[in-house]
Formats: sequence, structure tokens, C-alpha cells
Amino acid sequence: MKELFKKPINRYTVLFFVLTVFTGAIIATVNNNIIILFAMLAIDYIILLVVLRFIYSGYIKPIKKATETIKEIGNGNYRAKFHHPSSNIIGELSYNINALSRNLWEIAIREEIKSEQLSTIIENTENGLVLIDEKGYIHLVNRKFINMFGNSAKDYKGFLYYNVMENKVFHKTVQNTFLYERNMKGEFSHYIGLDKYYYEIIGVPIFNEKNRLKGAVVVIHDITELKKHEIMRKDFVANVSHELRTPITSIKGFAETLLEGGLGDKETTHEFLKIIYNESDRMQLLIEDLLTLSRLENENFQIVLNKFNVKELVDGIIPTLKIKAEKKQLHLTRDIEENLEMKADQEKVKQIFVNLIDNAINYTPEDGKVSLTVNSTSDYVHIKVSDTGIGIEKQNLPRIFERFYRVDKARSRNTGGTGLGLAIVKHIVEVHEGKMELESEVNKGTTVHVYLPR
Ligand SMILES: Nc1ncnc2c1ncn2[C@@H]1O[C@H](COP(=O)(O)OP(=O)(O)OP(=O)(O)O)[C@@H](O)[C@H]1O
Ligand SMILES: [Mg+2]
Repeated sequence: MKELFKKPINRYTVLFFVLTVFTGAIIATVNNNIIILFAMLAIDYIILLVVLRFIYSGYIKPIKKATETIKEIGNGNYRAKFHHPSSNIIGELSYNINALSRNLWEIAIREEIKSEQLSTIIENTENGLVLIDEKGYIHLVNRKFINMFGNSAKDYKGFLYYNVMENKVFHKTVQNTFLYERNMKGEFSHYIGLDKYYYEIIGVPIFNEKNRLKGAVVVIHDITELKKHEIMRKDFVANVSHELRTPITSIKGFAETLLEGGLGDKETTHEFLKIIYNESDRMQLLIEDLLTLSRLENENFQIVLNKFNVKELVDGIIPTLKIKAEKKQLHLTRDIEENLEMKADQEKVKQIFVNLIDNAINYTPEDGKVSLTVNSTSDYVHIKVSDTGIGIEKQNLPRIFERFYRVDKARSRNTGGTGLGLAIVKHIVEVHEGKMELESEVNKGTTVHVYLPR
């Protein structure tokens, strides 16, 4: 019986049936023709059934279907559709439900694209990123962060930051960001393998719309290059001061001795003055080298290109170098391509030759060989300076172009070197848009190749 009343149509049918019988009985009491009365009632009943059937299939059934579709949309299936062909109010309802699902689907797609873009940016940014909630739990770490601190995302996500991060500066920055509710900065260095990296860390508080602290984003920025430059700058100043102090101390010392009565002995006076002259000469060379470097490093530096014959240029510098080589019983040879012309800054190219041959002579023991070869390809002039000298250990090779870098400071000082020669050569090659290679074997010798555009 209960089942019968479940469907609204049955409920209405029974209700109408009762109503009809009731109305019929009243009419029967008024009119005694029972057959007509029942026939009338039966027709009434059939009509009612047809009407109710029409209402059920035209309205109640589609509304039920519409309710199911809306439920599905509510559950996140934005592709759910409700088709009803009629042009009445149900048709309009179906049109609006489909438009709603289409709009929601488009919004969802847009959101998906946006969040994909955001996660691509977060994952590929050059900074390490960590998102921490107000209780201190980590919600997000990006790839760069993992590169910096190791492990994988699952070792951080869902954990309290102070349980998974050891770095003290990280702790302090996060604590202060939460405490003062404003951006906080810090710096720390950190080893990845054997390499030392420098990082800047910035804690940024996040607030909700009621301006209550919701957590913090921690951004970790690699400042290794910047730090290296800073260290290089400091080293440079220290090196220059050091290199200048040595000759100045010497000059001052000998001048003082002379002033304090040393002038009497002619021979000593001459010897002291010679030392003073040599030391001033050394200082002048150092200052000239520094000026050359600073000019070459200036962004606005322009090379003066002119055409010249390479052999003539080399012939001009060889005699002085030959004297130096002969003093050490070194065999200096040269092999220059005939009639080779190049377009470059003549004075600067001269410096390349002088510096490279000078090094070869300085770092080759007596009775060794130094050779210079110059030839050309269609695009380049190839300068090659070889020696049979002391060579350079592999581990020192990457550093020898740095300003003031000398493999063996004591030995280099004896040759009067300050460690600027190769730095100057490298800069000259760079401003000419050429390239440079160096091969070396300890106790066998060194070969430097320079390629300059013609
Ligand atoms: N041909 C070479 N053989 C062995 N070591 C070399 C050679 N050329 C350079 N070096 C090493 O590289 C270092 C840097 O060379 P660089 O020419 O820049 O400086 P320097 O010769 O010491 O001084 P400067 O050239 O400024 O007078 C040298 O101190 C030396 O240790
Ligand atoms: Mg040198």
C-alpha cells in the first residue's frame, strides 16, 4: 500500500478517485439515474488520468531529471547535460542548466590552466620557494629548493619546518617573519658537494582578507656570483695595495738610508739609486698594467682596428725578448707566415705577443726552448707560443687568467711578475672576439693558442 503512494501520480489518482466518488454520491442523491452517473464518473476519471499522465511526463519527470543533472554538476561533473526538446518552461530550464554547466566547465578549464601556469612558474623559477602555514607546517617546496637542500618534496611537505630544516638562518628568518609580520632578510652559505654557495633568504608573511597572518613564503635566492665578485673586488684592492707596498717600502728604505748619510760612498749611492730606479720601474709597470686592464674592462672600450703585417710587428719586439732569453740560455725560435696581414688593434696584439713570450721565457728553466708560430685560416690568425718549461698543474689552469693569480708566488716574484699578464691577454682576446686555449704538462711545457679574427 505504501508503495502505491510513493509516486506523486498515484497519490493524485487516488485522491481524485475518492473525490469523484464523493461528488458522484452527492449527485446520485440528487438525481436517481445511477448508470448515467457512473458513466459520467468513469469518463471524468479517464480524463483525469490522461491529464495527470501528461503532467507527469511533461513536468514532473523532466524536473526530476533536471534535479539529478544539477546534483551531478554540484559534484563537479561540469560536462553533465540535460536535454529536453520542448519549448515550454522545462525547455528553458534545460537550456539554462546546460549553459550553467558549460560556463562552469569553461571556468574550471581556465582555473586549471592558471594553476598549471602558476605551478610551472613556481617549479621553474631560479629561486628556491617554500610555503609554510601559520602553524609552521610546510605546504609546498619547489624544484630549486630541492636542488639546494637535497632530499625530495615528500621529505618536507606536511612536516614542521624546524623538524626538517637544519639551517639556523632559515629558522630565524621564518620566526622573525611570523613574529614581526613583515618581510625579513638573511644570508647564509651552504655546501652542495664540494662547492660553496651563497644564498639570500627572504621571508614574506601572507595575510588573509581579514588581515590575519596565514603563513609565510620563504624565497631563497642564489647570490654566489655576486658574492664571488664582492670577494674578487676585496681581493683586488688587497692585492693592489700589497703589490704597491713592496716597492714603496723598498724605495723609502733606500732613500732614507741615503738621506741619513749614505750619500758619502759613491758606489753604495749608485747601487741604492739603481734599486730605487728599478723599484719605481716595477711600480710604473704595475700601474700601467692596471690601467690597461681597467680600460679593457670598461664597457665603452673601443678597439682601434688597423691593418698591419704580422711579421713586421713580431720583428719589432723580438730583439728585447731575445736578450732576456739569451740570459737564460734559452733557444727562442719563430715561424711566421709570410706576408700575413691582419686587421686588429696593433698595440694590443703586440701586448699579447710580449706577455705570452715573456711568460714562456720566465717559466722555462735554462737551456730550454721557446717557440712562436703564427699562421692563418680564412677567418683566424692563429698565434701559438710553446715552451719546454715547468708547466702548470691541472688544478691551477682555470685560475691563471685571474688578476694577480700566480701559481708559485715566490718564483713569480723573482721574475718580477704580478699576475696581470694573462688577465690582460684574455681581455685583449675577448675585445677582439677571438678565443684562447692553453695546454700544459708539469715539467714538460706549456702551449698557448690565441685565435684572432683577421
Ligand atoms: N708558460 C708558462 N709556464 C708555466 N706557468 C705559467 C706560464 N704562463 C703563466 N704561467 C703561470 O700563470 C701565472 C699567471 O701568469 P701571468 O702572466 O698572468 O702573471 P705573471 O707572469 O706572474 O706576472 P705578469 O705577467 O703580470 O708580470 C704565472 O704566475 C705562472 O705561475
Ligand atoms: Mg706574465
